[in-house]
Formats: sequence, structure tokens, C-alpha cells
Amino acid sequence: MIPTRRAAPMTGPMTSPMTGRRRVGVLISGRGSNMSSLIAAAENPGFPAEIAVVVANRPDAAGLAAARAAGVPAFAVDHKSFANKADFEAAMTEVLEDHEVELVALAGFMRLLSGVFIDRWRDRLINVHPSLLPAYRGLDTHARAIADGALVAGCSVHFVRPEMDAGPVIAQAVVPVLPGDDADALSARVLKAEHRLYPHALALVASGRARVSEDRVIFDGVGFDPDAMLSTPPIR
Ligand code: GAR
Repeated sequence: MIPTRRAAPMTGPMTSPMTGRRRVGVLISGRGSNMSSLIAAAENPGFPAEIAVVVANRPDAAGLAAARAAGVPAFAVDHKSFANKADFEAAMTEVLEDHEVELVALAGFMRLLSGVFIDRWRDRLINVHPSLLPAYRGLDTHARAIADGALVAGCSVHFVRPEMDAGPVIAQAVVPVLPGDDADALSARVLKAEHRLYPHALALVASGRARVSEDRVIFDGVGFDPDAMLSTPPIR
């Protein structure tokens, strides 16, 4: 494949000029612990993606400093400083393109994205959500699961579609809901699972082993353990 210096149109993965790893842009709104888990995974030279840039829609997002401390360029694109969503999203895309991003990972990015942005990055835009989708889209997932008496909870990584927290699921992890759990306790348990699951799912996408066909994820060369509580092989 011939290396190219600009972000590609939506026609399949391209190879980054220097390392052959997919260049990933991470969008955050807050503390960025999932972002940090992706950055840490990508520090392994064998990981099939590198984190090229982090963008936060809030200038006070704590994850910006964490990204910079890890040596990753990080920028605030403050949604409040734009007249409309189209201009805000165009500014984010410009930053992503300037950094030759091929895949975009939402990591606690709490703005709904338009169909225009989602189409621009179609099947290259993934999200982590703290529930076993399609259950509990939206906010307060843990409190709702506890209120419903669920015995298991978990997290999902999925390709993004215009409907909130919807799109083909790439990987899920299950955790128990324990007696006496409140939303904070369950959230902490699920977050630990997110930190394992998201790098794993990104690796599947970046390596081309998970891809979308007819709006479902199909897997190439991925083994499944029927007894595992993780929907894809455990991360070593
Ligand atoms: C994570 O739990 C993530 O799943 C959730 O926000 C949190 C961000 O934490 N995302 C959503 O609810 C998206 N619908 P982080 O900033 O520490 O990664």
C-alpha cells in the first residue's frame, strides 16, 4: 500500500507512513481514563494503532493534561465557542485531519455527533459505553441497572451510528452486580472492565480483524472461548 500524508476518505484502512500502525484520534469530554488506557496500550510497539491526537470539547477536561503528560498532542475544541454544531464538528475534523487520523475513538465524549460527522468517519468511529448494549443507552446506566435488579452489568465498544449509543457492537465485557452495590461501586467495577476492553476492541478494528459488513461486525482470525465472560478473547 502506498503511504499517503492525508487522512483517507472512507475506503478502508491506510498505513501510517512511519510505523504501519493506524493513526487514532481520541475525543474526550472529561477525565479521560479510557483515553489513558488507549494511550498506555499503544505504548506497546506491537499494538496496531498509535494515538495521534486527543481532542476535548471542554477546555477544562482533565484528560488534556494526562494526554500531554504522556506525550500525545492534545487540543481543546470548545463547542461553546462555535455558532453551531456543523462549525464545531468541522473544527474537530480539521484537527483530526491535520494529524492524519484514520480512526476516531470516543472516550467519554459527551456531545451527540451529527450524521455529517458520523458519515465522514463511517465505520472508523468507535465508542465505549458503560452498559451491555442494546440495554441502557444514554445516561445513568449503573443506577438504572441496579434499580432493575440486574445481576450482571458491563460495557460495550461499538461502531457509531447517528442514534445515541447505537451501532454494530465490536466487543463487550460482563461484570457482576453485587449485593449492596450503589451506582458508584458498580461504575468503578465496569470502568475497570472498560479499560481492558477498549484497547482490545481498538486493536481488533485497527488490525482489520473486526470490520463492518451489512451493519454487523464480522471477525477474521479471532477465536472465541464459549465459556468466557468477555465477548472476545481475553487481553493478555
Ligand atoms: C466511561 O464510563 C464511558 O463509558 C462513558 O463515560 C465514561 C468516561 O470516563 N461514556 C458514555 O457514557 C458514552 N455514552 P473517562 O473519561 O474516564 O474515560
